[in-house]
Amino acid sequence: MLDLKETFQAHDHSLLSEDRQGEVIVKEGLRGIQPNGKRFYIESYGCQMNFSDSEIVASVLCENGYVSTRDYNEADLVFVNTCSIRENAEQRVRNRLKNFSVVKRRKPDALIGVLGCMAERLKEKFLEEEQLVDIVVGPDAYRHLPDLISEAESGQKAVNVLLSREETYADISPVRLSSNGVTAFISIMRGCDNMCSFCVVPFTRGRERSRNPKSIIAEAQDLFDKGYREVTLLGQNVDSYRWSEDPKVRGKKLIELKDTDDVFNFANLLEAVAQVSPLLRVRFSTSHPKDMLDDVLYVMAKYDNICEYIHLPVQSGNSEVLNRMNRTYDRAWYMNRIDAIRKILPNTAISTDIITGFCGETEEQHKETLSIMQEIKYEMAYMFFYSERPGTLAAKRYEDDVLEVDKKRRLAEIIDLQREHSIARNKADLGKTFEVLVEKYSKRSKDDLCGRNSQNKMIVFPKGDATIGEYIQVKVTDYSQAILKGEIIA
Ligand code: SAH
Ligand code: SF4
Ligand code: F3S
Repeated sequence: MLDLKETFQAHDHSLLSEDRQGEVIVKEGLRGIQPNGKRFYIESYGCQMNFSDSEIVASVLCENGYVSTRDYNEADLVFVNTCSIRENAEQRVRNRLKNFSVVKRRKPDALIGVLGCMAERLKEKFLEEEQLVDIVVGPDAYRHLPDLISEAESGQKAVNVLLSREETYADISPVRLSSNGVTAFISIMRGCDNMCSFCVVPFTRGRERSRNPKSIIAEAQDLFDKGYREVTLLGQNVDSYRWSEDPKVRGKKLIELKDTDDVFNFANLLEAVAQVSPLLRVRFSTSHPKDMLDDVLYVMAKYDNICEYIHLPVQSGNSEVLNRMNRTYDRAWYMNRIDAIRKILPNTAISTDIITGFCGETEEQHKETLSIMQEIKYEMAYMFFYSERPGTLAAKRYEDDVLEVDKKRRLAEIIDLQREHSIARNKADLGKTFEVLVEKYSKRSKDDLCGRNSQNKMIVFPKGDATIGEYIQVKVTDYSQAILKGEIIA
């Protein structure tokens, strides 16, 4: 039987890393700020937007004199930044919260706070369900954390789950968490207006809004000046990024925009960030097939430092299922976007997300997902079976009627096929030489370093004279499903 956890493949650079990481280390607090003697600990789940938000939370807390710790046993404040995307993501958080009861036993004054998407979805109900929790804060209310902490310190339960149409935290300088000092995420927008019928994100993150490009470019420049060499621009649907100095134009939906409206779009932003320095690699995630048009591809082709990698979630290979999912594209449109990528950017690696066993999915429709995978041969995929989320369009409209055994079998078929494709794609890289940005030591050996090529593949190699943060040429000598191995070429 397939383990639920195996349906998820952890991957640093995706919107989807569900691994727990992100403990903050700010031993001295922020320069010039008087420590208040209290320590906080933060743990993040879910997508990279959540990890990026934890860096905002850390910044707000440090500005107010809190100092971080990696050990929750010594924390006065324990925060969990949560994810609601699937039932098992929520279950993991509930299990983890149980561990924190020891904190309260040892230190009765310690406070436990729940942040992020589960906080937003469950609101006050969280306090009833989990007695342990003192503070519940939604993703748009992090500026209010110091007040909420004071409220909780006075013995009340503190909740702020207001969503905003404006908040982008543009002026808050994130405190980089678990940073390797080489790669960083920059949040360029928040929320989502897409309403895919299976998805809880529009309810937990609110309306889509883009961040002022000046603050994005300044953040990229600042990171570069501090020695970072790669930024990933983050949004649930980066292709619908748009900014206008005119708030009326800014408030319009993509389809309401007129040609005469003065709008700075994602292609413009990508170009501007690429121009910060040819030595700064630029990545982005996630692209939506309906909005990813050729203008973005042409900008990618124009700049060597924009990485040749696109994560383009397909969800299903069958047009009728896509329609029920409210993805607003069909199989032909998706294939047209793949053809455009192959034509304009022939060396680009493509990865995807797939949901199997969505409401009403027949065996034939499942086979169409396998066939679109065969046609495209993705480099990598995140594969899930459908998990009904309360309040979503699908939960209201359709019955979750695919049997669990069928969901699991279909998922196993999809995973097996993807394994074949990942191995074949990696095998095809044997003997090729790639430019690699050195990121860190390999987990297995201090004699090896690792880093990614433009296509986002991790390559491990004997360290030689290479240093972290440097670009080097690496020739591929071996491969597995997940990584490449190689040696430095002088
Ligand atoms: N904004 C991104 C995806 C964010 S959620 C996009 O539109 O592509 C990440 C992935 O989780 C989705 O692409 C989808 O494959 C999966 N997912 C979302 N809701 C799900 C659900 N209810 N059940 C199973 N998988 C889900
Ligand atoms: Fe969810 Fe769809 Fe928005 Fe992605 S685009 S976050 S899947 S609603
Ligand atoms: Fe991300 Fe999970 Fe929320 S995927 S947006 S943290 S529901």
